Amino acid sequence: MSAKPWGGAFDEQTDPRVEKFTESISFDSRLAAVDIRGSQAHARMLAKAGLLTSQECQLIVDTLATIGGEIERGEMAWKTELEDIHMHIESSLIQRIGDVGRKLHTARSRNDQVSTDLKLYVRDSLTLLDDLLLDLQRAFVDRCQIDADVVLPGFTHLQRAQPVMAAHYWLAYCEKFQRDRERIADCLKRVNVLPLGAAALAGTSLPIDRDETARLLGFTTSGANSSQIPMVAANSLDVSSDRDFLAEAIFDLSLIAVHLSGWAEEWILWCTTEFGFLKLPDAYTTGSSIMPQKRNPDVLELIRGKSARVIADVTQILTLLKGLPLAYNRDLQEDKLAFFDALDTVQACVELAPSIVRRAKLKVDTINARLEEGFLDATTLMEYLISRGVPMRTGHEVVGKLVRLCESKGCKLADLTLSELQAACDKIEADVSGYIGVKNVVSRLSSFGSGGRTAVLAQVAVWQERLKS
Ligand code: ARG
Repeated sequence: MSAKPWGGAFDEQTDPRVEKFTESISFDSRLAAVDIRGSQAHARMLAKAGLLTSQECQLIVDTLATIGGEIERGEMAWKTELEDIHMHIESSLIQRIGDVGRKLHTARSRNDQVSTDLKLYVRDSLTLLDDLLLDLQRAFVDRCQIDADVVLPGFTHLQRAQPVMAAHYWLAYCEKFQRDRERIADCLKRVNVLPLGAAALAGTSLPIDRDETARLLGFTTSGANSSQIPMVAANSLDVSSDRDFLAEAIFDLSLIAVHLSGWAEEWILWCTTEFGFLKLPDAYTTGSSIMPQKRNPDVLELIRGKSARVIADVTQILTLLKGLPLAYNRDLQEDKLAFFDALDTVQACVELAPSIVRRAKLKVDTINARLEEGFLDATTLMEYLISRGVPMRTGHEVVGKLVRLCESKGCKLADLTLSELQAACDKIEADVSGYIGVKNVVSRLSSFGSGGRTAVLAQVAVWQERLKS
């Protein structure tokens, strides 16, 4: 009577509204390829364990490949009553090869199956995302070449603070995306532990070989002499309920989104007439339907705006997991929605960003014309005093007073005469002129990691080496 795999114990058909409510095929069909990979490995393991003959195994593996091809070409019709991708593929298999197909789900449950699929999917997609982040880092390193001589004001509180080489800005983003990439690599360590074989929640009485499945699916870690050690989850209750790897992946995605959003915000500001630092390529801006002069940074605004969705996805997955008793609960089906949304959103942003980074132009004339505004050299003047034996706090006060003097006269520190400077502090000598003015400052900033010319050039070389293909 019932086409459901659990039909044996049921008197009634499922209410169609329940089928519609409980289905996940509308969003988990994208797991098709990994589901097939997982099933093929499972079949091979079953054969090795003597639970399938080698002919049965070959028939299953080949038929799964055929089904995979059909799905890829969009030829499989999705049916709500078949719930999810796992049941679609299994029922198609049984339709084609009958009783042999009915053996595939031996020693397996959809609970360990879906977790395995997700881990394979997360591994593939985060590996791809890592490549995209690498391209974005390369775009920033390329800019270091383009803007080799440009100095920018550095800000804290969005107030002019100290000057830095433009490349220092670009490498700051390289550092952030590097940490994002390291977080991905770290997350993949937890992803890389095989769930399959945990069955529903308790494992199985059948003689399966989970190490074999792990090896077949690449859930391994490198041991001594480049041997591959299988990584297999050791608690079936945990497997059935564990989505830590997904929560971590979504968090990692959210931090990438936050980094992109901060960058986008900065460049949006830099494109304003008020800043006038940057011109975006026309291909990445839009105009206004009414104001002919407008060039709007919509792409950057959307990169900033879309981060909200990814941050919401973190909340969704954590709230989903909070308060779930062991082991599998159907709530977990909703996990995919958060992950796919976060992944698609971040991927779209990271795909667009490198072209914007490479093609935007710094308006060097505008930047230079105003670079001496805002006393960007005040801190270095104070450091000059410190190097002449003046206590830091005293130096701070002296320079503060000199800044006030300049403000009242409407001039820069470099415009003060030596006697005006010496009146503020008798430790000042003629060589002070080599410490004032933005050019002097960027040649003086020299500590490791600083924004000065030599330190930044050294870092550019480090990054070029690190990211070279
Ligand atoms: N579609 C389900 C999910 O994504 C597959 C697992 C179903 N397991 C179950 N016991 N009903 O979570």
